[in-house]
Amino acid sequence: MTGSEGDELALARASGVLTDPESLGSPVVAVVGATGLVGQEMLRVLDERDFPMAGLKLFASERSRGRPIEFRGKTYEVDVLSEESFRGIDLVLMEVESPISREWAPVAAEAGATVIDNSSAWRMEEGIPLVVAEVNPEDLQGHRGIIANPNCTTMTLMPVLAPLHREFGVRRAVITSLQSVSGTGQAALRELEKQALRFLDRPSGLRRAGVDGGYEAGEIYPKPIAFNVIPQCDDFADEVRTKEEVKLVAETHKILNDDSIGVIATCVRVPVEVGHSLSVVVEFNRPVHVEEALDVLADSPGVDLFVGSEYPTPLDVAGTDDVCVGRIRPDTSSEGGLAIWVCGDNLRKGAALNCVQIAEVLLDQGWLKPS
Ligand SMILES: NC(=O)c1ccc[n+]([C@@H]2O[C@H](COP(=O)([O-])OP(=O)(O)OC[C@H]3O[C@@H](n4cnc5c(N)ncnc54)[C@H](OP(=O)(O)O)[C@@H]3O)[C@@H](O)[C@H]2O)c1
Repeated sequence: MTGSEGDELALARASGVLTDPESLGSPVVAVVGATGLVGQEMLRVLDERDFPMAGLKLFASERSRGRPIEFRGKTYEVDVLSEESFRGIDLVLMEVESPISREWAPVAAEAGATVIDNSSAWRMEEGIPLVVAEVNPEDLQGHRGIIANPNCTTMTLMPVLAPLHREFGVRRAVITSLQSVSGTGQAALRELEKQALRFLDRPSGLRRAGVDGGYEAGEIYPKPIAFNVIPQCDDFADEVRTKEEVKLVAETHKILNDDSIGVIATCVRVPVEVGHSLSVVVEFNRPVHVEEALDVLADSPGVDLFVGSEYPTPLDVAGTDDVCVGRIRPDTSSEGGLAIWVCGDNLRKGAALNCVQIAEVLLDQGWLKPS
């Protein structure tokens, strides 16, 4: 063992990080929000992709303190965050709400760790890379300790829109997203399940609130989500746009490094458990034929192409890695535009998978340590 390996082992042991001496040289990883929907998916993805790690720490809220979680045959106890939590940690995968990330990501970065954050806290900060692994991995170079993972809706679109933009130049995109309830976390899943059971229990054959009333909203969404669709994701940012719609526009511009693209979005919550879908009408700088778009997308990483009358649904894609695209057809209302249908798993590519892919790029390129 070299001197620096000995130091590393001593530091890791001193900081209470369970370290596998065989894996020295690999990062010691912390998952913050390990009991949540994204956190649980993160552990699955890390394991499936055989992500190298010399140690693992799991964090969540006070209510999960001490909860045992199995990972690669070992049991880890969930801890709560403190000023000392990030000692000896190289990589923090953070999947908590924005205010918690705002508080703790700088503490982790200050302690020398690199944070890949899933919340919206850092995405639009100047100097913080906002990265889709297949699209703009070069933006990771020179990071300063905090890296942002895009919103799950933006993420579902980017592996499809970015290669089309590179090839043809996207002038304008009209987007309607149909977003699953898991995008709002585990409490939203419970709300959908409870409401669906309660509404099914009602005697009426047709569920029509306008006739027989009694379909109250729950605590997470402003309207009932079971047997309904809600054209509001997240709170309103101003009088006309929701925060989700604002994020989709701003993040698209930042990732594609092009503020000139016109984007108008309507983000809709639907009673689907997992998987976000988007209907997208795209106009380009020149007319684009369907065959040209198919050629580009067939060679695009992270994209699974459906042709003809085949198409993906959110249920099909839930639990898979690629973003799936189908129903590509001419926009007959404008010259040379295209209408496109896209589906992706919001918990995997929309969150956990992209984080792990970013971490893999950092390791491959030797960019893990902040500049
Ligand atoms: N769900 C998605 O599709 C998706 C996609 C992209 C990004 N995101 C973002 O990822 C983040 C997590 O989303 P989620 O869907 O996984 O939410 P979730 O299922 O509600 O999980 C939230 C996690 O945060 C933990 N937590 C709460 N307070 C904490 C504290 N004070 N300290 C440490 N951990 C704390 C919770 O622990 P307890 O279990 O102990 O309460 C839980 O592990 C959010 O910022 C969300 O916007 C989500």
